[in-house]
Amino acid sequence: MSIDFKAEIERLKKALDVTVVAHYYQRDEVFEMADITGDSLELARRCKADKNPWVVFCGVGFMGQSVKVIAPEKRVLMPKIACCAMARMIDGSYFDDSVNYMVERGIAKEDILPITYINSDATVKAKVGEMGGYVCTSSNAFKIIEKGLETGKKILFVPDRCLGQNFAIQMGLKSCVIGAEGQEECDPKEADVICFNGFCSVHQLFTVDDIAFYRNKYPDIKIAVHPECDPKIVAAADFSGSTSQLIKYVADLDPEQKVAIGTEYNLVNRMRQKNTYVLSSTKPECPTMNETTLEDLYNTLKSIEDGKPINEIEIDDHTVKYANLALERMLAIK
Ligand code: 13P
Ligand code: SF4
Repeated sequence: MSIDFKAEIERLKKALDVTVVAHYYQRDEVFEMADITGDSLELARRCKADKNPWVVFCGVGFMGQSVKVIAPEKRVLMPKIACCAMARMIDGSYFDDSVNYMVERGIAKEDILPITYINSDATVKAKVGEMGGYVCTSSNAFKIIEKGLETGKKILFVPDRCLGQNFAIQMGLKSCVIGAEGQEECDPKEADVICFNGFCSVHQLFTVDDIAFYRNKYPDIKIAVHPECDPKIVAAADFSGSTSQLIKYVADLDPEQKVAIGTEYNLVNRMRQKNTYVLSSTKPECPTMNETTLEDLYNTLKSIEDGKPINEIEIDDHTVKYANLALERMLAIK
């Protein structure tokens, strides 16, 4: 007999002290089951405030880890511990290499203030926390960089070069990318924000040709993109913002206003109304976000009911302690 996953998930949610959380990029059928949804910052804040002892997080690994770091007493399970491709581009040793790169070029370690995008492993966040640095998300990067600059130190921004460069441009700061192809060598003495060379392969899919295509077809169209897109794309767009900020931007437009959106397919497709388009000729799907299925969510909830929890997020005490410092420094900034 086949299982009615939706009905079973509803039953398990009622029976257990559990909160189901989902990021906007999740498949629709999984997203619809969630008690809490939002962008990365909202998910972190709301999970911290939530009272249930169990969290089942439908998203990518760093998101579940962040909940465990800010609320270590909670039991955090993930239907799939799928790792964000960008987060995989840096680990502790690559972080150390970036610090050393700056030190070798004349910046003392005490004069470096690291900021990590939340799309990074807890071990990287811990290294950042130990050096007095911050986590940021796409919705608060401006404020966090501003805060970092108050220290008078050089900002080392990891792992997303696009986010780092986009906010540096917005703030009138000089930036460079360590090891970027086709650019002059990154001189940390000459820049305010020194970026690691990571990126999101999904957001790299949006091109200036895609924007030209839509602007030619509909001259009055608005273009709205996520700041993980290349600076060329953000410069050519009308708006850039986090997933929640993109949703609000589109909701506030006149219903007759055409808009093409440059972010992950599941979110854009959910927003897609008469005048809303996907800003790409290829489907911008995040493979890891799409790994989680309704059956995985059911299996995870059932494992709690059966007393044999699966896919639990476990992080060692040292990492929790220092990653917590970097995350809490971010959460303290309103
Ligand atoms: P948001 O914080 O804007 O939801 O972004 C998360 C993400 O992974 C974007 O690719
Ligand atoms: Fe990571 Fe990109 Fe997927 Fe976001 S869309 S989770 S940055 S791979």
